[in-house]
Amino acid sequence: MNAVLPLDNAQSVLHPAGWDALIISHFTWVLFGAGTLIFIAVMALLFLSLRRHERPARAMLWIGGGGVAFPVVVLSALLGWSTWRSAQLAPQSSQDALTISVTAKMWWWEVRYHDPVSGREIVTANEIHIPVGRAVYLGLNSADVIHSLWVPALAGKRDMVPGRVTGLSLRAEKPGVYRGQCAEYCGEQHAKMALHVVASTQQDFDAWLARQAQPAAPADSPQLAKGRELFLAQRCQACHTVRGVAEESRLGPDLTHVGSRMHIGAGALPTRRDSLAGWIADPHTSKPGVFMPGSRELDPASLAALAAYLESLK
Ligand code: CUA
Repeated sequence: MNAVLPLDNAQSVLHPAGWDALIISHFTWVLFGAGTLIFIAVMALLFLSLRRHERPARAMLWIGGGGVAFPVVVLSALLGWSTWRSAQLAPQSSQDALTISVTAKMWWWEVRYHDPVSGREIVTANEIHIPVGRAVYLGLNSADVIHSLWVPALAGKRDMVPGRVTGLSLRAEKPGVYRGQCAEYCGEQHAKMALHVVASTQQDFDAWLARQAQPAAPADSPQLAKGRELFLAQRCQACHTVRGVAEESRLGPDLTHVGSRMHIGAGALPTRRDSLAGWIADPHTSKPGVFMPGSRELDPASLAALAAYLESLK
């Protein structure tokens, strides 16, 4: 499903694909345009004033008009317009909004959904799937330090503060995959704390949610069975949950469907067998400082089996 959605890596407020982002882009253009016109007018007047000298009475008129009346009128107009436009931003609470909880952690994102079928919670990481055209409310908090969620193509940014729940409403208008990232310095790997919002049709979203609600895929080949054994033998479950296999910890990202996600390490690497193997052996090469220890002692065949098993968790 993800493969057919256009991937927007631009991360630009000038490429809006969501309701709030559209309003924010209008702010950007109008303020930039008005600022440009005012700058040109001031420079023209400055140039004129250098060339001719007004009588004191007329000079006072210029100062009164240009220094007081003009800014009052222009700034009041911009204030009025931006207040009116801000009121059209997505409301912070809406009856039929889809609520998703996002917890920022050093340096990744835990994403939780309520499954309407089983009533259980579905936990995933670093990808927020949403239906297009529907109001979405993200309940935001942090497990450690202050982070900030920003997906410029969809909405403004919102700080995520430990011990406090904040929220961000958004609505995607166009299907696509939109890159976002942490926008508040939060330590060594702040720069590699990316996330992707996957906006698809309601039907595709429902299908995705139903798949995520399933327990982990069975290991149905000798290599995958070996990979699953290694997962348990290496005590990966001390930090990672794979639903149906080991569910004792949520310190690290939930890996039940890690193979279905586009990236590992919060956007650090694509989810491929070779990058998974490299990450398991030594995550600090691509993301120095992450809390996951490396497993350099594993032989290549074991690494390959473990990587193949994780990749199979679609
Ligand atoms: Cu999290 Cu910067």
